[in-house]
Amino acid sequence: QSVAILGAPFSKGQKRGGVEHGPKAIRDAGLVERLANHKNPVHDLGDLSFPYLEKDDSFINVTSPRTVGRANQVVSEAVSKAVEAGHTTILLGGDHSLAIGSVKGHAQQRPDLCLIWVDAHADINTPETSPSGNLHGQPVAFMLTELKDKIPDIPGFSWMKPFLTAKDVVYIGLRDVDPGEHVILKDLGIQSFSMRDIDKLGIQKVMEVTLDHLLARKKRPIHLSFDIDAFDPSLAPATGTPVNGGLTYREGIYITEEIHNTGLLSVMDLVEVNPMLGANPEAVEATASLAVDVITSSLGQTREGALAILQ
Ligand code: ARG
Ligand code: MN
Ligand code: MN
Ligand code: MN
Repeated sequence: QSVAILGAPFSKGQKRGGVEHGPKAIRDAGLVERLANHKNPVHDLGDLSFPYLEKDDSFINVTSPRTVGRANQVVSEAVSKAVEAGHTTILLGGDHSLAIGSVKGHAQQRPDLCLIWVDAHADINTPETSPSGNLHGQPVAFMLTELKDKIPDIPGFSWMKPFLTAKDVVYIGLRDVDPGEHVILKDLGIQSFSMRDIDKLGIQKVMEVTLDHLLARKKRPIHLSFDIDAFDPSLAPATGTPVNGGLTYREGIYITEEIHNTGLLSVMDLVEVNPMLGANPEAVEATASLAVDVITSSLGQTREGALAILQ
């Protein structure tokens, strides 16, 4: 299966500048070069461009609704097209609001997909529960049919309707969940593994249960939405909402190796790398290089030897 890379230089799902430079930082860290030995062709499709809106007033407390909605429409069409063309598709963010369009575009081609959300945060606030008004804290709520009545008609989002159910989603890495999010996770019975669960069960067991939960009944395409802040801030400092106590390097890579080994990875988002937030250039390079490792590992780079990714 060939690979398509799509850059999404977008930051309006949150309020800190710089995350729009994530795609460049990840490319500069050698993404395409590191995939040079991939067994199938790699197509870097370049960066998407998003409409600029002069005026975009908040709706309820939601910031930049039209800008985020329109950008996600662009993402959705691009991801849908890349999947349709037969590529395993990698979306480089940009902030995590982009997952709305990415998962939606994926679902347009593969309605039976399942979603693995690796993140310190659940990103399942509704406009009403959101403490920040930032849409990067809300993308999952927009996707779920169970939350349909909790999402008002927000300007910019008329093009999309919810398309996923709670049992199709698993979270890994949670450690900063807002009160309203916690209620939603419990009410909907969403399978989720916090950092405490990883401490308790070990990452091996967490992945076994995750893949069993999503795939035991039927093999289906996987959408991996990977927020770099899932990692511990000592490894991924250049990100907008770091939270202590995150994934180790080995836990993160084990997650992506296991997902690769299913043979079912179809679309992946790598989001929230913000090269303007590192304390120094080394911190930024470390974060971007970690993002590259996550992507190459998801695509078959192994630690025991290169057979899976090389000819
Ligand atoms: N829960 C917080 C909020 O709703 C933080 C979300 C952080 N999201 C992210 N994709 N980094 O604003
Ligand atoms: Mn092609
Ligand atoms: Mn996060
Ligand atoms: Mn996130």
